[in-house]
Amino acid sequence: MPGRKTRRILVTGSCGQIGSELVGELRNRYGNESVVASDIKPEWDGESEGPFERADVLDDGRLREVIRDHGIDTIVHMAAILSAKGEREPQAAWKVNVGGLMNALEAAREMGLSQVLCPSSIAVFGKGTPRENTPQETVLKPSTMYGVTKVTGELLCDYYAEKFGVDARGLRYPGIVSAETLPGGGTTDYAVEIFYDAVEKGRYTCFLREDARLPMMYMPDCINATIQLMEAEPSGLKHHGDYNVAAMSFTPAELAEEIHRSIPDFEIDYDPDYRQKIAESWPSSIDDSAAREEWGWKPAYDLERMTEDMLERLRKRHEAGALYK
Ligand code: SER
Repeated sequence: MPGRKTRRILVTGSCGQIGSELVGELRNRYGNESVVASDIKPEWDGESEGPFERADVLDDGRLREVIRDHGIDTIVHMAAILSAKGEREPQAAWKVNVGGLMNALEAAREMGLSQVLCPSSIAVFGKGTPRENTPQETVLKPSTMYGVTKVTGELLCDYYAEKFGVDARGLRYPGIVSAETLPGGGTTDYAVEIFYDAVEKGRYTCFLREDARLPMMYMPDCINATIQLMEAEPSGLKHHGDYNVAAMSFTPAELAEEIHRSIPDFEIDYDPDYRQKIAESWPSSIDDSAAREEWGWKPAYDLERMTEDMLERLRKRHEAGALYK
């Protein structure tokens, strides 16, 4: 996959679960100075070296200042409030997720940027959506504010692409499992927490039911999917902001069983809370054939390979006394 070496990329929400690793990979491909990390947090705590700017995505003026100062042509807009936190603070979720994206799209339109990539989510699905092998084109009636903001985001990307010619793209992430930065405020976060607790305590109490099957993806695949879509030739794309992508689906019980194979004493129990209802409103598996056909998407990790890799990484950190960095 040849990178366009001339890009100047701004990543918002860089200190988050996905942003922190995406920035590193983008810097490998485009050069450290060409990728500006930004976040509402005061400092960059990621591994890679390169520019960092503190910026609130709701501060339009500041966003444009960063774009101007660094000659940015591509925005990867990762800043968002996730599903579970969004149910506690629905007004803030709307403001940050929709207001932040509008600022990014408007900056792109007015300043003539080449591309905006904004992730969507399986949370766009809900009542009336087929839960198995959920199609690309289907009913989008989410029951969470997070889902409402993500449907809106998809529509905004489509609108800006068609009305103003902004190259706005997006993909519907499933739950993302990763070893570097903990997720925060999501319904699929259990699938990360479980690994930390397995390594640290040998036991985990899950906030979803044992049979809550959800689509999931390991971080290296998530990073690849994101960069592949960014770099895909526009002529091959029939969609803009809403590509289904999938890698695997599992239940908490199945994930626990897989962990059990390498930690035989591992124990799990279940204490479902309000997040169970959110999980029940989402698909259990996803049809991602449009992404496969239009830009060559193909995941590399299944449950077994992901579990092996997660445990290896976290065990090493645990032994070094740095499980939670
Ligand atoms: N992982 C997200 C969440 O749980 C869904 O996109 O909120």
